[in-house]
Amino acid sequence: MIYNCPHCGGLLEAVYGKPALPANDLKTLWRSRRTSNAPLDQSGVWRYREFIPFLGEDLASAVTLREGCTPLLPGKLAAQYGGLDSLVFKHQGFNPTGSFKDNGMTCGASQAMRLGMTRVACVSTGNTSASMAAYASAAGLLPVIFIPHGNISFGKLAQALEYGAKTIQVEANFDQILALVRTLAERLGIYLLNSINPFRIEGQKTIMAEMLDQRDWKVPDWVVLPGGNLGNVSAFGKGLRELKELGFIDRLPRLAVVQAAGSAPFYDLWHSTDRSHLNAISHPETLATAIKIGDPISWPKALHELTTSNGLVEKVTEQEIADAKAIIGRCGIGCEPASAATLAGIRKLTAAGIMRADADVVAVLTGNVLKDPTYIHQYHTGVLRTGTGEAIAPTFGNPPIVLPNNEDAIASFLSA
Ligand code: F0G
Repeated sequence: MIYNCPHCGGLLEAVYGKPALPANDLKTLWRSRRTSNAPLDQSGVWRYREFIPFLGEDLASAVTLREGCTPLLPGKLAAQYGGLDSLVFKHQGFNPTGSFKDNGMTCGASQAMRLGMTRVACVSTGNTSASMAAYASAAGLLPVIFIPHGNISFGKLAQALEYGAKTIQVEANFDQILALVRTLAERLGIYLLNSINPFRIEGQKTIMAEMLDQRDWKVPDWVVLPGGNLGNVSAFGKGLRELKELGFIDRLPRLAVVQAAGSAPFYDLWHSTDRSHLNAISHPETLATAIKIGDPISWPKALHELTTSNGLVEKVTEQEIADAKAIIGRCGIGCEPASAATLAGIRKLTAAGIMRADADVVAVLTGNVLKDPTYIHQYHTGVLRTGTGEAIAPTFGNPPIVLPNNEDAIASFLSA
């Protein structure tokens, strides 16, 4: 299976001719599908199928768990904390397996079916594996998962097991395992469903289509997202560019990628005078394990999309992520650690005067609050520590209180 261009070595991407219908007709058609009971219309990915037409007319191999359809949620306290007048979260944690990976995986699994594959594989910091396990099992494919031993959250590992994936924990980091799995997949004829797979990227494009559809096609000033392997920002950039080329929108939002400071090779690249190659980090560190990646495979695509959209890259500390996450929680919204890098990044960008307080900002929350409950419990009880042993202050800690089984004691506690 080929994932790279034989000429330039870059990752492949899908390119199509123009859709048969003009943008305005497609907007109407896509909106009308929201009232349909047909499974593919109920999917927030396949509803936009003219935008990702890689299956052509033959949609029989499409595998859907009714992914996408994720809400735009305003967060008042988060806006205040981030230095903005208002802030809206596009919450991908509302997906069937709780992360944005489902938008891509429905397409990757569908392509695997179309190719007649029987086994699919991925290396993952957790969410890709949870998602692939679910879609593969739903489609009758065998999922094989490789994860960095001891470095993914329990919630995600549990999902992979429950969805029936053959789960292999390797004593290496994400980047090392990806290199291994690429050769193994080739050798064993297994279809790879990491974000090097161009069909995954096609599915993730629809996150931007759905966001714009939900805003009646009003383009925000900024779209902010966390960056790990950089597939998602590549997908968002491609999707937005294509929507502009096809006449759905007349300008691009600025894309802002936020990395965890201990795993920020793309931040370093962006702020370097030489952007011709990325210096990988051999020992990435962050408690936001989803984005604990030192050698992001999609950096050339991401660099192109950020340059095109006048975007930027920010980095945030472990403490900043943890506090921003607690604030998102207090909005009644919640997310996993990596997702909270968005709000932490926004706070820095407004403080630096790069993002205006009255900017129209959409922050993408990539994963569900229940993905990593251990982190949450440790933060609120004041025992959260970074990988290098530094204590994270429970700035917005909300520890549970232990009281005796005594009505008076409880009443007096609650009236204090
Ligand atoms: N947020 C979450 C919750 C993620 O799971 C990931 C990536 C990212 C952000 C970063 O997205 O890699 O496209 O830049 N998780 C991958 C995984 C690597 O294996 O689940 P990216």
